[in-house]
Amino acid sequence: MATHPGGGSRLLMKKPISLILADAKRSELKRTLSATNLVSLGVGAIIGAGIFVMTGNAAANYAGPGVMLSFVLAGLVCAVAGLCYAELASTMPVSGSAYTYAYGTLGEVFAWAMGWLLLLEYGIAASTVAAGWTGYIVEILSDFGLQIPAYLTSATFTVAEVAGANDTVTLQAQFLPQFNLVGALGILSVTALLVIGVSESAKFTNVAVVLKVGVLLVFIAVGLAYVNGDNWSPIIPPNDGTAWNHYGVMGVLYASTIIFFAYVGFEAVSTAAGEAKNPQKDLPIGILGSLFICTLIYMLVAAVLTGVVPYKDLGVDAPIAVAIDAMNPAWAIISWPFVPAGELNLLTFLIKIGAIMGLSSVMLALCYAQTRVFYQMSRDGLVPAVFGKVNPKTMTPATGTTLLGIIIAIAAATLPLNLLGALVSLGTAAAFGIVCVSVLYLRKTEPDLVRPFRVPFYPYLPLLGIALCTCIIGLIFVDKWTSLQRGNWVPMVILVTYFAIGVAVYAFYGRRHSKLAKGEAVLGDVSEPLDAPLIDQSQN
Ligand code: ALA
Repeated sequence: MATHPGGGSRLLMKKPISLILADAKRSELKRTLSATNLVSLGVGAIIGAGIFVMTGNAAANYAGPGVMLSFVLAGLVCAVAGLCYAELASTMPVSGSAYTYAYGTLGEVFAWAMGWLLLLEYGIAASTVAAGWTGYIVEILSDFGLQIPAYLTSATFTVAEVAGANDTVTLQAQFLPQFNLVGALGILSVTALLVIGVSESAKFTNVAVVLKVGVLLVFIAVGLAYVNGDNWSPIIPPNDGTAWNHYGVMGVLYASTIIFFAYVGFEAVSTAAGEAKNPQKDLPIGILGSLFICTLIYMLVAAVLTGVVPYKDLGVDAPIAVAIDAMNPAWAIISWPFVPAGELNLLTFLIKIGAIMGLSSVMLALCYAQTRVFYQMSRDGLVPAVFGKVNPKTMTPATGTTLLGIIIAIAAATLPLNLLGALVSLGTAAAFGIVCVSVLYLRKTEPDLVRPFRVPFYPYLPLLGIALCTCIIGLIFVDKWTSLQRGNWVPMVILVTYFAIGVAVYAFYGRRHSKLAKGEAVLGDVSEPLDAPLIDQSQN
């Protein structure tokens, strides 16, 4: 392995913290985001397909009513990771977030790996959300009598259960002549919004946050009256013998890896570090505040869902709509001449609108975070310069955003939602684990660095974070391994291909163009001003 002039391994070369801080200080981004804005940004990025779509599958197939506990477990992992994020974000308030932390602490190859994991986390998560978004669009259009052909709303790759001899069921990958055009158009629309200007996106995000939180609160308030305690009994149904994670304690644990997806996005707050008024104080508030609010909402929604509908009936794409149909409150049914049935359940309709807006805001926030990480990586020379080029008219990295939008849209159109969700959880858990390691490493190597926010119970909390993230990765691997044995090779093949491409891009591009390696990164290296941040600041 080659060594660089400063000694040590070339792959483990670190971006000096002084350089990172100088970048942050000299950044010309406007510091306009308050703590409230940051919490809103977090909630905008968090509440989406996880609660509106995946909770149903997690409850119906793995945890039963125990999905409430899965929410607590996943929330706990995120809280621990969130505290570590808060310490690093307050110490290094830079827009590259976890990627930059890894560059400053563990070295270039870890930074690259982090960037590649973040693409899995943000980019592929946006594709997954687009698949859920498609489901709600199809539902609402069909309420109005409009049907979109299934071959324009389904992913090209699917994994189907096929019955074999002796009652065995194997999983088979299928490649069908279909394409989720609706999901791809969803991604391309938010991409267009991000390119046009972030202030338009900001207004949209604010409206979406109010709407999605509003409909979930209404759902909780109305639903509590319809809860049937029998549906919660037993809270953890016994394992049904078909698979290690079908109910029982292992089912609850495995469901938390699915539910983990519902929390993805809280750390997107840290990518706004360069635009926060008082990053040292407000970033921890933004990260932990949004996490707290969402955990509370999620647990209540899960409690109402499983209390109103028997958990086995929740394995659908729009579980919340199913719960409202089950409540069927007479006051919500209104006559509506524009729909074939002549009447409409107002509550279901509102939930669908809230879900569509909410999922759109998540797609927007995730695509935004992805472009900012690639922006920083390109400025470090690890991905092509096009991702860091700011368009002088729109003040956004327009070409890079468009390219990323196209890649994410293709993933949304071709890959199935349940598969993507597991990949996102895997990438996110790995990224969180690296963040926890970075906290430990930096405390050891830079003990005197000013840390406005410090992880409590150090070093136990970061160590706990590493252990929990490893458990999540382990559980996902065991599930994918057992499904591989049942014939489903798609997740493993996608994972291995994804990481192989990552290694190749680093070996043939990043490693050769790294500005740090070439000695081009200097203290005078100034980030170009970008656009405004993703939430509307006019209310400050
Ligand atoms: N947490 C986001 C969602 O659930 C990614 O859609």
